[in-house]
Amino acid sequence: MVDVARAAERGVQRSSRRSASGAGWGTCQTPGSFAGLRPDRRRFSWLRPVTLWRSRNEVLAGWFGDPAPVIRRAWVAALRERGRDPRTPISLDLGDSFSFLVIGDPGEGDASQYAVVPGLLRMGEGTAFAVVASDVIYPAGGGNDYPDKFFRPYRDYPGPIYAVPGNHDWYDGLHGFMRVFCDAPALPRERARPAGLLARLLWRRPERVDEVALAAARGWRAAPAQQARQPGSYWVLDTGPLLIVGIDTGIGGSLDADQGEWLRSVSRDPRPKMLITGSPIYERNHYKPCPIEGGGTVDEIVREPGHNYVAVIGGEIHNYQRYPVDVGGRRIQYLVAGGGGAFMHATHTIPRVTAGGVDEDDFRCYPLRGDSLAFYSRLYRRLFRAPWLEIAPEKAMKIMSDRIGNRPVRPLTGEERVTRRERWAARLLGGLPFPGRLPVERFVGGWISELFDWDEPPFFKSFLHVQVTPDTLALRCFAATGCGEHEADPPLEDEVLIPLTRPPVTTP
Ligand SMILES: [Fe+2]
Repeated sequence: MVDVARAAERGVQRSSRRSASGAGWGTCQTPGSFAGLRPDRRRFSWLRPVTLWRSRNEVLAGWFGDPAPVIRRAWVAALRERGRDPRTPISLDLGDSFSFLVIGDPGEGDASQYAVVPGLLRMGEGTAFAVVASDVIYPAGGGNDYPDKFFRPYRDYPGPIYAVPGNHDWYDGLHGFMRVFCDAPALPRERARPAGLLARLLWRRPERVDEVALAAARGWRAAPAQQARQPGSYWVLDTGPLLIVGIDTGIGGSLDADQGEWLRSVSRDPRPKMLITGSPIYERNHYKPCPIEGGGTVDEIVREPGHNYVAVIGGEIHNYQRYPVDVGGRRIQYLVAGGGGAFMHATHTIPRVTAGGVDEDDFRCYPLRGDSLAFYSRLYRRLFRAPWLEIAPEKAMKIMSDRIGNRPVRPLTGEERVTRRERWAARLLGGLPFPGRLPVERFVGGWISELFDWDEPPFFKSFLHVQVTPDTLALRCFAATGCGEHEADPPLEDEVLIPLTRPPVTTP
C-alpha cells in the first residue's frame, strides 16, 4: 500500500511548481505506460461533425429549457415503481480513518483519459472507493461507450466507483448512467423526452444499450469489492465520520425542487460533509451558487454553519482550481477538479482572483497559468502551422506573473526576456488583454478549447486523493503528465488540510 504522506513529500519536489520537467515539459525520462492500456489508437475529436451532432442536446436545452428536472423525476418514479427507494443512503463501514479518490470529467476514452490511469492506480492503493465527479462519458453519456471509457480504464482499480452525472451524461437522458450505476432499465420513450414538439423532434434519443457488450465489460470489474450500486443520480454516502453528498445538476447547472428538498434534509445531519457536484460553485473567478427550483441555492445550504460542509468539489471545468472562502468565521474549500481525462480548459485566462474574497496568493490552480499559456501556444502553433505563436514555458510563466501581479509560482532565472512577438502571441491566446478590449480570452478559454484535444505529454491532467482521519481531511491534487517517471510517483500540485469538527456526542 502506498505511504501517502511520503508520496506527497516526494510529489512536492516533482511538481510543476518546482520545475519545468515536473510539468512534463521536455522529453520524458521514460515513456508513459498508459499507451499499452488503450484498446486502440483512435483519437477522440470534438472536431468531428458526428461528435458535435451527438452533443446537440446542450444547444437544445439552451433553446427550449433544460428537461433534466422533468426526466429526473421520471427516473425517481421508475425506481420507486420497482420497489427501490432512491433516497436510501449508501453506507460504508470504514472506521474513522480511510481514503478515497475523486476523478473529474474523465470519459473521452483516448490518450488524455488513459494517461491518468497509472498514477491513479498507484495513489489509489489502499483507498476505499472512488467517485467520478461529472461527465463520466463523452460526448453524450451513451451506454455503449461505457466499456472503453469506464470499465476498461478502471478495471484494475480494486474498490467501488460511484458517480454524479455531468451535462454530457444528460445528453443521453441519463440512460447510460442509470443503466451502469443504478442497474435501471430504460425509461419508456414518452417519459424520456422534453416537452414541446420541436424540442422532441430534434432531441437526441437515448442509445439502445448493447447488453451483451455491457455484460462483458462488467466482467472487467467483477470482483465483489468493486461492486457499487447507487440509489439514483443524487445520493449521500455515509462513511461514518464524513458524509459525502453527490448532487445531479443536469444540463443547466441547477437542482429540481425535489432534489433541493432532499439536499436540505440530508444536510441537517451535523456531521462534517463534502459536496460533490457537476457544477462548481467557484470557477474562473466566477461565483455560481447553483439555483434550486422554487427558490434558494445550493451554496446557501453549503454555507449554513449547522450543516458543517467543509469542501465542495465540482467537475465540468477540465483543470484544477481551489478557492478557500471564509464564511462566517469558517473556511470552506471550493474546488474545481475536472482534470481527470478530458481535454484541458485553459487556466491562463483566469484573471487575478478576487471571487469570494479569496486572495490571489491563496488561490491554487493546475496547470499553472504560465504552463497553460505555453500549452495553448504549442497547440495553436501546430493547428495553424504558425511557429511564431509558440511561447516557451518559462517565458509564458514570466508573462503570466507580470499580468497577474504575483511572484512567479515556479522560480525563474531572471534572464527571461519577453519579445514583442511573444507578447502578441500571448494577446492572441488570451493571456494578455487584446487591444480594443476584444474578449479573446472567452474564445480561448470557452468553447473553442474543446475543439483541440491533445494526445501526447504533457497532458496536465489531475485527480484528487482524499484522506480522512478523526480530526482532519487532507485533500491532495496529484498530476498526470503522461511521463513514465510521474506515473510511478505522481507530482503533488496542491495539498490542503481541513480540520474536522465533530458534533458533540449526546448521551440519552
Ligand atoms: Fe466535462
